Amino acid sequence: MTGEDFDIQVSFRHRIRFTRDAFSLENEMLAGLLETRGHSKALVFVEEGLRSFFPSLESKIQHYFERALGIELVGVEWLEGSETAKRDGRVYQEAMASIERYHIDRHSYVLVIGGGAFLDVIGYAAATGHRGVRLVRFPTTTLSQDDSGVGVKNGINAFGKKNFIGSFAVPYAVVNDFQFLHTQPAKTRLEGLIEAVKVALVKDGEFFCWIESNTEQLRALNEDAIETAVKRSALLHARHIAQGGDPFELGSSRPLDYGHWAAHKLEQLTNFKLTHGEAVAVGVAIDTLYASKVGILCSEAAQRVIEVIQELGLPVWHESLDLRDEKGRRLVFQGLEEFREHLGGELTVLLLKQLGQGIDIHEIDEEIWDRCVEELKGQALVMH
Ligand SMILES: NC(=O)c1ccc[n+]([C@@H]2O[C@H](COP(=O)([O-])OP(=O)(O)OC[C@H]3O[C@@H](n4cnc5c(N)ncnc54)[C@H](O)[C@@H]3O)[C@@H](O)[C@H]2O)c1
Ligand SMILES: [Zn+2]
Repeated sequence: MTGEDFDIQVSFRHRIRFTRDAFSLENEMLAGLLETRGHSKALVFVEEGLRSFFPSLESKIQHYFERALGIELVGVEWLEGSETAKRDGRVYQEAMASIERYHIDRHSYVLVIGGGAFLDVIGYAAATGHRGVRLVRFPTTTLSQDDSGVGVKNGINAFGKKNFIGSFAVPYAVVNDFQFLHTQPAKTRLEGLIEAVKVALVKDGEFFCWIESNTEQLRALNEDAIETAVKRSALLHARHIAQGGDPFELGSSRPLDYGHWAAHKLEQLTNFKLTHGEAVAVGVAIDTLYASKVGILCSEAAQRVIEVIQELGLPVWHESLDLRDEKGRRLVFQGLEEFREHLGGELTVLLLKQLGQGIDIHEIDEEIWDRCVEELKGQALVMH
């Protein structure tokens, strides 16, 4: 046999920016960010749900491109967003048709403004049209600004599975524009902050302490507090992706998915009535208590985490945890198998060693985890 192995190394720049009102004429951030060599075009996709909150957005974008950028704006398209946009290929096809119609090439830009679901769909169209055109994401929810929007994944759902079709693609840039951050309903705005709590727990104990001493402001949706939390969280996520050694998730260890194995299953078991943020809050609470019960984390630290979650108004328990199969095993444990299958290889779940640091483990003692659920159920019932 003959043959040879070649290493192919490709380097990406992950540009993360924070600003306010990116399309006001005084704001030069975007003009500095986009290269204007040759004849570049831009096509902007905006999630339809934003129209009533930002009625003048389209005209501001048009003025900005006319006055401040040497890039031709070919269109602003308002398309359906939220989870329904990911359910089938419709919105993806519409976006792809526009990319083709406006002749967006690999030196042109697709800008996408919307929540995490919309970014996923349009991002997938941008990653596959011409095998990838430049994408600039403008996340508009707490969850997408502090977590998913700064990531390198996109996709749509298929065969009843979330994100089954998609790709890894580093966007040209991510612009966290804080003007979009304060119009979401209060409940979902708070839920998105659980990803900041999560990344603090696995990466930055000092950030966790900051959250802990600012739960009141966060709960009251204080704008400065939310923006600080979002910014620190976004940078921690981006740093992990860029420097964690596994940007395209080829290994089995996924620290940014702390608490997510149970969360994904609970979302599914409740037919997505439990939102991602709520489910992650529950998953983080149980896995944190579990770490203390198996002697990895001190119990005082675990209690602090649970209190922070509760003080943010997020749940630590949900009735779907009590759903069981005919043998009496909680259905949520199927999430462990699904998590392993999704990552491939050995089951790898991150637990907390201390606030700000995790450790990978390879099995969960279901009896002990059961007891954690019961304990949190007790606390949750007392809270109500
Ligand atoms: N690609 C990834 O790495 C990754 C990671 C985590 C989650 N996700 C995906 O992100 C999605 C969830 O994202 P999400 O939490 O942003 O929810 P979402 O995109 O479903 O948006 C929730 C709702 O908020 C509305 N909305 C968006 N911005 C608003 C604003 N500024 N003001 C008022 N309303 C606004 C939307 O119209 C929608 O109705 C899921 O599909 C999930 O799978 C992707
Ligand atoms: Zn998440």
